[in-house]
Amino acid sequence: MPSFLTLFRRDEIVQWANTEAVFGPGRQGTGYELAPVPDGLFKLVKLASYRALGIDKSVGHDCYVMRYKTGSCIPKHKDTAFFGSRHLRVNAIVQDAGRGGQLLIEDTPYEIRERDAYVFRPDLLDHEVTTITEGERLVWTMGTMLPV
Ligand SMILES: [Fe+2]
Repeated sequence: MPSFLTLFRRDEIVQWANTEAVFGPGRQGTGYELAPVPDGLFKLVKLASYRALGIDKSVGHDCYVMRYKTGSCIPKHKDTAFFGSRHLRVNAIVQDAGRGGQLLIEDTPYEIRERDAYVFRPDLLDHEVTTITEGERLVWTMGTMLPV
């Protein structure tokens, strides 16, 4: 999804990530970090994310900005869904790493540009991000579990 984030929204998210956002360690324990996006913030980006997932805001979902500092990565994995559900996720690149930080899905490299987004099934497809060797990568992410 090209230009999922406008320049203005992208800059707002970068600004937030560099100031008020509260980052904690990501799940894989490889150095990437997660900051929950509070209610009432980035409403238009959330609306676009609901649309991308085909849900409305009453459907359970998570919403984070992920930060990958230099040296962090995500090894190849799947994210299991609850039994009887499918896991759907939209990711938008807020800020590219200076170097590294290549997304691979099923071992295929994907060139997702800054401000673009993609929707995928993290429970079905292996995905990974190679080590960031320079700079800091920021990704907007919203996920949901839908009945099969
Ligand atoms: Fe994942």
